[in-house]
Amino acid sequence: MVNSTTKIHIIGGGNLGVSLALGLSKFSSDSQITVTRRNIQQIQYLEKLNICVSSDNTFEIGQADIILLTVKPYQVDTVLNEILPHISHKILVSAVTGLSVDALEKKTNHAHSIVRIMPSIAAQFGESATCISFSEGSHDAGKKVSELFDLLGTALVIEEKLMDAATIMASCGTAYALRYIRAAMQAGIEIGFDSQTALAIASQTVKGAARMTLDEKIHPEQLIDRVTTPKGCTIVGLNEMEHQGFSSSLIKGIKTSFDKIKEI
Ligand SMILES: NC(=O)c1ccc[n+]([C@@H]2O[C@H](COP(=O)([O-])OP(=O)(O)OC[C@H]3O[C@@H](n4cnc5c(N)ncnc54)[C@H](OP(=O)(O)O)[C@@H]3O)[C@@H](O)[C@H]2O)c1
Repeated sequence: MVNSTTKIHIIGGGNLGVSLALGLSKFSSDSQITVTRRNIQQIQYLEKLNICVSSDNTFEIGQADIILLTVKPYQVDTVLNEILPHISHKILVSAVTGLSVDALEKKTNHAHSIVRIMPSIAAQFGESATCISFSEGSHDAGKKVSELFDLLGTALVIEEKLMDAATIMASCGTAYALRYIRAAMQAGIEIGFDSQTALAIASQTVKGAARMTLDEKIHPEQLIDRVTTPKGCTIVGLNEMEHQGFSSSLIKGIKTSFDKIKEI
């Protein structure tokens, strides 16, 4: 289990950093969390939740058990130059897209345990599908980080060569799923609901479908069979969606994102 007094230092209090801080404060309540960014006004509200906020990346960093990097790729070197003189033998966890374990090990002179993660902002609600990679030498650190991210949803250790694919599926995937909800909501308005009711029904329906695939671990089509009546209204709608390229457009979109990530 994760140590009851794990001190977690999150550098980069933006969309992801704040989501992780909020998730950790809720689901790993014994963790002590510090979040840093240069302009702290926007995250000062976190202090009300007992999350420490600072514009100084080195603030009490020597006492941190885990340091989480949630800055943009081009901000990494600046942050490392600041913090490296103040830390030794830490668990350094990076959510930075495209930054490999090997590259971060080199940038940190092999002096820390490096763990690469790909979470989503749903970590805030304990629903991130976090993918994790680490080298053999960081096995204990990887296990600890895995346990931590299990509290924020699911944590899956994957081969690092799949990290770009994980970024598309688990991180960008949040946006694709939200776009489905938006479309269903718009259709719901067209067939009679006000927008809030349509959003509530569309969101809960997606949650219910996801819950079934997660709990039953069976192919979605087997569950679809339970919803479709021969000659019924579900199958005609589904088939029309496929005629219009529903599955095909999703697959093409995901592959387009995957092609793009390789250029970044
Ligand atoms: N958003 C996601 O869903 C998601 C999911 C998985 C992975 N990621 C990855 O996570 C990283 C962050 O993404 P994001 O969407 O959270 O970006 P973001 O919202 O722009 O957050 C980055 C944060 O870093 C802070 N920052 C910049 N320079 C800094 C410095 N020198 N010291 C401390 N903080 C600094 C920025 O605040 P200031 O300008 O105030 O310093 C900003 O709040 C990226 O590498 C991204 O690829 C994101």
